[in-house]
Amino acid sequence: MEHAVQVENARKFIEYLESKTTAMAEAEYRNPVSQYTCPERLSREQALLFSHYPLHIGFSCEIPEPGDFKTDDFSGVPILLVRGEDGKANAFLNVCRHRGAPVAEGCGKGQRRFTCPYHAWVYGADGALEYIPGEDGFEALDRSTHGLRPLPVQEKYGMIWVKTEPGDDFEIDDSLQGVERDLATYGFEGFHHFETGVLRPKMNWKLVIDTFLESYHIKVLHHRSIAPLIESNVATFEDFGINHRGIYVRKNFDELLARPENEWNILPYTTMVYVLFPNTVLVVQQEQIETWRVYPDGDDPNASKMHVSLYTPNAPKTESATRHWRNNMDLLMKVVNEEDFPLGEKMQFGFHSLAQDHLTFGRNEPALAHFHSALDRVLAEGIAAE
Ligand code: FES
Ligand SMILES: [Fe+2]
Repeated sequence: MEHAVQVENARKFIEYLESKTTAMAEAEYRNPVSQYTCPERLSREQALLFSHYPLHIGFSCEIPEPGDFKTDDFSGVPILLVRGEDGKANAFLNVCRHRGAPVAEGCGKGQRRFTCPYHAWVYGADGALEYIPGEDGFEALDRSTHGLRPLPVQEKYGMIWVKTEPGDDFEIDDSLQGVERDLATYGFEGFHHFETGVLRPKMNWKLVIDTFLESYHIKVLHHRSIAPLIESNVATFEDFGINHRGIYVRKNFDELLARPENEWNILPYTTMVYVLFPNTVLVVQQEQIETWRVYPDGDDPNASKMHVSLYTPNAPKTESATRHWRNNMDLLMKVVNEEDFPLGEKMQFGFHSLAQDHLTFGRNEPALAHFHSALDRVLAEGIAAE
């Protein structure tokens, strides 16, 4: 984060902590309960958000060398992400052009050829169809037009985005709408991928994202875990078009103020929570980076699945460094698995009781209002355009 922006946020925290307040939206926001339960709403989201928007699929450090690859089906289409010989990140539909089997499974390193497990057609890391066993049987087939179908992909700021439909290239800054100024400062290019876990709570995918968007609940729901570390109901908020950034302040914030302003680095004293539209939560805290890439689980509005990734500033070189990051990964999974998501699943259940037709986001919860209004705006524009 640029130094001037850090100072601006630090000044806001000084004011908020002194006056016991937080960033406030102009008004309360009523969010219809049906947005979390309605199958039609989910199918509009699937059709517009998860098909037409670039989705963040991982960090560059997950596929650092040519032939490094990973697969990902969570968006609803099978994606193969692989670094080409030329160093560029390529994305393909993970579908063999013979009869459709996936040509790669899981993830791997240095794989220059992908051999389909069904009849052994062979593709290069650039997607080209290189070899057909028994080619006599396919005399009329033009190999040059039967490579893996490429997907639009862009790698920038040490992160990778993919569109799940074949088509034209995109410029990710058009979607980031200013938040890239922050992303460019973190040096994600040099990070190390520590681990990615999978969670599948019985909650609407947006309710999962809501979990991260206010600090109002910290001293109540998290009183046994993170409440001693992070101030409740004190946050700064900034929107970047359809994206936003909320910053929470840690209880050691006073230590920052002991330093001269030109040395202020707010990272050790804050937790930054970004929503990268539509479905990624990026958390920057102290040295580590977490991403939560959240998707609907099939056609059920009551279920989601997500990849939870932890990235560290460098690869751990000692056992104690590995233990440190392992503990951090375990802690973040434990907090959501034992505190946020069990309650979220009960909320999802209660949504169907018709106790109320809307939820109320307080003025002190501006990020929630921003996330849902951005979704509504995009869905409404998409529908109008069709
Ligand atoms: S389906 Fe891939 S080689 Fe036959
Ligand atoms: Fe929480």
